[in-house]
Amino acid sequence: METILGIDIGGSGIKGAMVDIAKGELATERIRIPTPEGARPADVAETVGQLVSRFQYQGLVGAGFPAVVLHGVVKTAANIHASWIGQNVDRLLSKASACTVLTGNDADVAGLAEMTFGAGRDQKGVVLVVTLGTGIGSAIFVDGKLVPNTELGHIQIRGKDAEQRASDAVRQAKNLTWEKYARRLQEYLDAIESLIWPDLIIIGGGISKQSYEFLPFVNTKAKIIPAQLLNQAGIVGAALYATT
Ligand code: BGC
Repeated sequence: METILGIDIGGSGIKGAMVDIAKGELATERIRIPTPEGARPADVAETVGQLVSRFQYQGLVGAGFPAVVLHGVVKTAANIHASWIGQNVDRLLSKASACTVLTGNDADVAGLAEMTFGAGRDQKGVVLVVTLGTGIGSAIFVDGKLVPNTELGHIQIRGKDAEQRASDAVRQAKNLTWEKYARRLQEYLDAIESLIWPDLIIIGGGISKQSYEFLPFVNTKAKIIPAQLLNQAGIVGAALYATT
């Protein structure tokens, strides 16, 4: 069994587990350490180092990170500390953990897990994975191949960043009913579907386990379904990302 350590770096927690990459399943318990206040590069790196040492692991590590990551370098900082921009996250995390860490965008790696083991398995054509969490992440696959670093959570809706209207964090902060939230999501997905024409939309992120609450109110041109790996997609996908 080939196992790789997968790490999901998020705004509130940094989570990791060993992943059986042939099955797409966690091979150990998941360990979660709260994201350090402010999520500055050095603090996040130190926390990742702590997490890796809890697994007594040495080897290849995959990580998902909530920003555009181009060849290891962070390019955006919507929900993380601004000083991340320009940092080589692969180098920082590798140094802090004494492992080789390969980092991809969090939505891209979660999408990879869904396309390989979950709701998008064997799906041809254009698949759009939208993750609804603190922000809105997107991943586009064409015949199963990832087009990395799409940032469809930042299109403008009513003069605002879409993720400031339709993320799960906004739903919680505003205490929106599912029906009201679904209306915001509908408006967002309508805007997306006027720009790109996916064959299938997969809704991921922490909210996906409650998709039965809001998906019945959402009507898209493309078929729309919930993700299947739920909160494991980030970790499983991170491990997969490191090996592909
Ligand atoms: C970031 C994306 C990320 C998404 C989900 C957005 O604010 O710009 O890179 O994928 O949040 O975490």
